[in-house]
Amino acid sequence: MNNPEPVVALVVAAGSGVRLGGAVPKALRLLDGEPLVLHALRRLAAGGIDRAVVVIRPDERERFDRALTDLERPTVDLVAGGAERQDSVRAGLDFLAEAVPTARIVLVHDAARPLVDPATVRRVVSAVAAGAPAVVPAVAVVDTIRQREPDGSSVGLDRSRLMAVQTPQGFDLDLLRRAHAAVAADGVGVTDDAGACEHLGTVVTTVPGSPTGLKITHRDDLVVAEALLRASTAAPSNTAAPSDQE
Ligand code: CTP
Ligand code: MG
Repeated sequence: MNNPEPVVALVVAAGSGVRLGGAVPKALRLLDGEPLVLHALRRLAAGGIDRAVVVIRPDERERFDRALTDLERPTVDLVAGGAERQDSVRAGLDFLAEAVPTARIVLVHDAARPLVDPATVRRVVSAVAAGAPAVVPAVAVVDTIRQREPDGSSVGLDRSRLMAVQTPQGFDLDLLRRAHAAVAADGVGVTDDAGACEHLGTVVTTVPGSPTGLKITHRDDLVVAEALLRASTAAPSNTAAPSDQE
């Protein structure tokens, strides 16, 4: 085959987890006895991913090496990240250019989302493979959201049009490289990779995400994730489409 590894996952794990607290980086915190990053990689593999680059804090290489010793699939390389999430993504993209020149599609996933649904992974990859340049999994917003205004007032937003965005986000690799180069050159801060692509005017496509795709940010999120994990061994997970507006 000419293109043995067209799809590669970039798992960003170089944050410190300040809001979660604790002595180890968030990606190495345990959920049901295993590090968050290990859960995430196993689920990416279940979604068809064979090759991953995990972006880490350079001073944590030994601990990440140990945490991933028993992982058979995907094949993992560890790469040093940067100060902000977008610096870490850029470091991963630079590594990919050298190490996996056959890659054409990249998924960018937060290690802080350990319970990513393999079906979501497949939906994202399929949409990019079918020609969408930038794809994000999204779920309906259940809270009514208001926007703070500069004058101290607030305005209500139309909830039926709002979606909460998860990862993995999928991209044409060449586009994502150009997008991250552009936001870096223009000094623009982005909170996700689709945002970087929008800076270039790219249209972002959504596919249904999953309730288990939550991001571990605060301590309560770990409690929720433990419960979701227990529930998923007892019953099949339910997948919420962005159109669910209950
Ligand atoms: N991340 C990263 N490099 C950074 C900052 C964040 O790779 N310089 C990664 C995190 O490891 C995480 C994902 O980006 O998997 C989402 O970031 P977030 O949830 O904010 O994690 P942390 O930055 O670790 O948490 P906090 O902001 O509470 O410190
Ligand atoms: Mg952060």
